[in-house]
Amino acid sequence: MPLFDVYPLYDVEPAKARGVYVYDQKGNKYLDLYGGHAVISIGHGHRTYKRMLKKQLNRIGFYSNAVQNPLQEMLSSEINRQSGCAGYELFMCSSGAEANENALKLASFHTGKPRVIAFQNAFHGRTSAAVAATDNKNIQAPLNTQQQVTFIPFNDDKALEKEIAKGDVCAIIFEAIQGVGGLDEPTTDFVKQIEAICNKHNVCIIADEVQSGFGRSGDFFAYQKYMITPHIISIAKGMGNGFPVGGILVNPIIKSKYGMLGTTFGGNHLACSASLAVLQVLEKEQLCDHAKAMGEYFVEKAKTLPFVKTIKGRGLMLGLEFEKEVGVLRKELIFNHRIFTGGSSNKNLIRILPPLNVQKKHLDQLIKALQICHQ
Ligand SMILES: Cc1ncc(COP(=O)(O)O)c(C=O)c1O
Repeated sequence: MPLFDVYPLYDVEPAKARGVYVYDQKGNKYLDLYGGHAVISIGHGHRTYKRMLKKQLNRIGFYSNAVQNPLQEMLSSEINRQSGCAGYELFMCSSGAEANENALKLASFHTGKPRVIAFQNAFHGRTSAAVAATDNKNIQAPLNTQQQVTFIPFNDDKALEKEIAKGDVCAIIFEAIQGVGGLDEPTTDFVKQIEAICNKHNVCIIADEVQSGFGRSGDFFAYQKYMITPHIISIAKGMGNGFPVGGILVNPIIKSKYGMLGTTFGGNHLACSASLAVLQVLEKEQLCDHAKAMGEYFVEKAKTLPFVKTIKGRGLMLGLEFEKEVGVLRKELIFNHRIFTGGSSNKNLIRILPPLNVQKKHLDQLIKALQICHQ
C-alpha cells in the first residue's frame, strides 16, 4: 500500500541520532539545527531520557485516564515549579494541535462565547478549531471554515478594540514568537493591551507555547517576557523531546467539570516519563540560560553576514531573512554542508531550531557554511 502523499520529502533517511547530530543509513553525519521541527529540546538520545523511558516501559507503558496516574501529578508540579506558573492546572494530550483544540474549546466553555481572535500569519495546528485559527487558507477544508475566527495584524490596537467590542469573542490566541509564520513578535505594549481588554471583557488569553515553550526562547515560556497572566498556555513539541505529548496549563479561574475534556492517549505513563526526563535535564544542564546565551552569540555572529537582511527571534528560536527565497540555500546546506535548517511561510527565511544544548562550534559551522554558500 503506498503512503498517502502529503509531505514533500528531502532525500535523506536518518537512521541514528545523538546529541545535535543525525546520521543517515550510509553513516553520513548531519548537524541538526532544525531539531525535527523544534521538537528535540535536550538533544537526541539523551542518557537520562533513555534511562527514564526504559525504566517506565519495564513497569507500565500505558493505561487509560480512568485510573490513578501519579506521574501526571508529578509532571504537573514540576512544570509549575520550573516555569514559575504557580497554581495552573494541567490537562494532557498528545500533540500541539490537540493542545490548542482543547484550549479554544475550554475558552468557549468558560466564557459561553463562540468567536476567536487570532493573528495574521499565525499557525496553531491542523485540527478543527486549531486550523481555523491558522492563517493559511490552503490547509483549511470547507468543514473548517464553519468556525468563527477573525484574523487581525499584530500591534493593531484599533482592530483589537473593534473586534472585542462586538461581545462574542471567547479567546485571543497568540504565539509570543510566531514559528511557522516566520519569527515575528508583537510589542510589549500590544500584549499588555490584550491582557487588559481580555480581563475587562471576559475573554481568555491563550498563549500558544507549543513551539516556543520549554526553554526554547531562553525563558521557560516566551510570553513571560511580557509579564502577563494567560488563562491557558498550550504546550507540546520540546516537552517530550520526540515522544508525542502535549497539554494545556489552565489558570484556576477556569473551573473543570467531569467530561469537559478528554482523550485516550493523553498523559499516559510513557508520555509523562518523557516529559519528566526533559524537565530534569533542562534544570540540571541549565538549558534555558544556555539557550539565551547561545541565541545572543549567534545573533552577534549573524550580524556580520552582509547577505542577511534581518535576524529574528530569541533564544534558540531564530530566523535569518534573506533578500531572496531560501529553498535552494536550504538544499545546499543539507546536501553540501550536511546541516538541517527549517523553512517557514516566509519563503525568504530560514529557521534555526537546534537542540537546546547546541554549542558555539555548531553555530559557527552554520555561519561558515552560509559564507561559503554566498561566495
Ligand atoms: C505554534 C504552534 N502551535 C501548534 C502547532 C501544531 O502542533 P502539532 O504539529 O504537534 O499538532 C505547531 C506546529 O508546528 C506550532 O508551531
